[in-house]
Amino acid sequence: MNHRPSTTVILAMTADGKIADERRSPARFGSAADKAHLEEQISLVDAVLFGAGTLRAYGTTLPITNPDWLQQRQERSRSPQPIHIVCSASGKIDPQLRFFYQPVPRWLITTAIGAQLWQGKREFAKILVFETKDKLIQSLDWSEAFTQLKLLGIEKLAILGGGELIASLLKADLIDEFWLTICPVILGGREAPTPVEGIGLSQQQRQRLELLIVKQVGQEVFLHYRLQHYSSQNNRQEKMGQ
Ligand SMILES: NC(=O)c1ccc[n+]([C@@H]2O[C@H](COP(=O)([O-])OP(=O)(O)OC[C@H]3O[C@@H](n4cnc5c(N)ncnc54)[C@H](OP(=O)(O)O)[C@@H]3O)[C@@H](O)[C@H]2O)c1
Repeated sequence: MNHRPSTTVILAMTADGKIADERRSPARFGSAADKAHLEEQISLVDAVLFGAGTLRAYGTTLPITNPDWLQQRQERSRSPQPIHIVCSASGKIDPQLRFFYQPVPRWLITTAIGAQLWQGKREFAKILVFETKDKLIQSLDWSEAFTQLKLLGIEKLAILGGGELIASLLKADLIDEFWLTICPVILGGREAPTPVEGIGLSQQQRQRLELLIVKQVGQEVFLHYRLQHYSSQNNRQEKMGQ
């Protein structure tokens, strides 16, 4: 893992496992405590990463405003705000979004075609192109991207959703931890997104987690999990002679 940033997914989820409603509206069901938890987690990292779908839903990102977190970053010689990295294969993001006026550094991870849309523009301080070799589908080479992010000084990365991005990163075995906030609401709906979209895993392929922390604040439960990586799972199974 030393060749890439350590990664933590941070998400709020309904009691029935949804991260948004069927219209994919911004998730507004978390409490003030959940927002403070998200801000604290963001204050601990060098960069945050989110999908273009999440940016299109919210139009904004979450800058750190809590003076304590800002001071702690200063004491650790970190910039006031982590880098906010958007991933978009198409590069099609509305430049009028409020995000582009927020006081945070912005990077884009995209394809060569996506990068062309932002050539000569100032919205993103850095545009990183990581394509898979398959030219027929526009998809990103996440292993290469994460290696480069580490070389660019990003040691700790928070992944803020949505489900499509998380599915890709889980498939590439690039997620180390999850912070899930279970909120006391139900949204239901077949089309409402969950933390991991994509085609899913069979029971045999299931991704195992280790529960590290359970914390209740008011009506919400904060769960901190560590993923058991495929390599460590395999090693363990080999050791157990399975
Ligand atoms: N509850 C929560 O904590 C929380 C947090 C975040 C988001 N959400 C919700 O989640 C929903 C959005 O999630 P989502 O799954 O629809 O979208 P998403 O993962 O945020 O973004 C999907 C888009 O990001 C780009 N992308 C993601 N993975 C990619 C990959 N592997 N390769 C290339 N491009 C990739 C593509 O952009 P292009 O189309 O531009 O190519 C894709 O269409 C919203 O409703 C939002 O409210 C909830």
